[in-house]
Amino acid sequence: MKKLRTVKGMNDILPPESARWHRLERAFRTTMRRHGFGEARPPIVEPTALFVRSIGEATDIVEKEMYTFTDRGEKSLTLRPEGTASCARAYLQHNVQAIEPVTKWFYVGPMYRRERPAKGRYRQFYQAGAELYGDPGPYVDAEMIDMIVSFLRELGVEDVEVMVNSLGSGETRARFREALVAYLEPFADQLSADSQRRLHVNPLRVLDSKAPQDQEIAEGAPNILEYLGDEDREHFDEVRATLTALGTPFVVSPRLVRGLDYYTRTLFEIRGRGGELGAQNALCGGGRYDGMIEELGGKKTPAIGFAMGLERLLLAMPEEEDAGRVDVFVIARSPSLRREVVSVCRDLRASGLSVDADLRGGSLKSQMRRANKNAPLAIIVGEDEVERGVLQIKNLSDSSQHEATRAGAPALIRELLG
Ligand code: HAM
Repeated sequence: MKKLRTVKGMNDILPPESARWHRLERAFRTTMRRHGFGEARPPIVEPTALFVRSIGEATDIVEKEMYTFTDRGEKSLTLRPEGTASCARAYLQHNVQAIEPVTKWFYVGPMYRRERPAKGRYRQFYQAGAELYGDPGPYVDAEMIDMIVSFLRELGVEDVEVMVNSLGSGETRARFREALVAYLEPFADQLSADSQRRLHVNPLRVLDSKAPQDQEIAEGAPNILEYLGDEDREHFDEVRATLTALGTPFVVSPRLVRGLDYYTRTLFEIRGRGGELGAQNALCGGGRYDGMIEELGGKKTPAIGFAMGLERLLLAMPEEEDAGRVDVFVIARSPSLRREVVSVCRDLRASGLSVDADLRGGSLKSQMRRANKNAPLAIIVGEDEVERGVLQIKNLSDSSQHEATRAGAPALIRELLG
């Protein structure tokens, strides 16, 4: 029989690797709590129309990458390719703006895009992201970028490039679009098939096309920053000045447009340069989308957000030393002491320690081998210790022995664990 395997581009995350994921997600949650963001957990499946309307019809995601299917009730559903649209839907559906003028949400979870799999690019991947509604900026924009850079630094990911741009709003966009189409039209027959099709529907997309011939033409395209109206320019100036005041390094990248249609004004992307990251070096992308909530049927509500790819962050993060699967491994000197071992484990776990034992009745040597592989400390339970009501704790890194009463053992173990 043919072996069953994961779907192409989708990965199992198993121990011990999952422990790194856990640490990363915990660090992200801590940062989010420090900044006053609460967790949103929207469903993974949404009506297809939500993504088409918010991400944009003429984008790679909507045209080529969504996992869309018809359910048994003949509804068109899609596995979410990102989190922003789902959060906006939830924000509207639950009338959140009536409760709080400024709402701050974060999320962590799997996203689905049928892209060509490569290192750092998968068809199921995890994002940690956040969305902030109700503040038009520019201070929250700068604060968000600074928060992400600080978070990356805490993870040990320091070698990054922060790219910022502004796409302006309403009128700026219309004027830039006109200039861009006028620039691109003479090259129309040299553009990729996708870009030719998008030239008049969605010319901004030509600027972030991955096709080499498009990229070459995009090099000479007009600079959007030269088209910003006064308010848009002041907004962007203040984002930059605040970042500078915070000491957060960034580069202004007028050609940065990002592959989703909903962005307005501030746009950013953070790319990694170190670790094991290869070509897929975009660690984080985000920006302002002041039009989306209205577009989806709500009141005009400014919003900004970002998302980071967790697989890519893990590739960029420095290797950590494996601290072991549990704190203590408990060993029975003879198989007849296994009942005692179960009781010792139970008491130590009740004190909050993580504890394991090999209860199959193997030799002392084989139990020691497992202890060495799985924990920094071992407890060997023998007749003598049981009689005296004590536990012998062995530090496996330096072989030192320590004795404690059963009641005193948890404190001593904690001390040895540092
Ligand atoms: P995005 O740039 O499409 O933005 O994705 C954000 C991040 O998700 C990327 O920088 C990358 O780290 C990761 N990522 C994207 N696609 C893949 C993939 N196929 N495999 C692995 N990682 C991937 C968004 O999704 C927006 N929703 C961000 C946002 C939130 N904008 C405003 N609010």
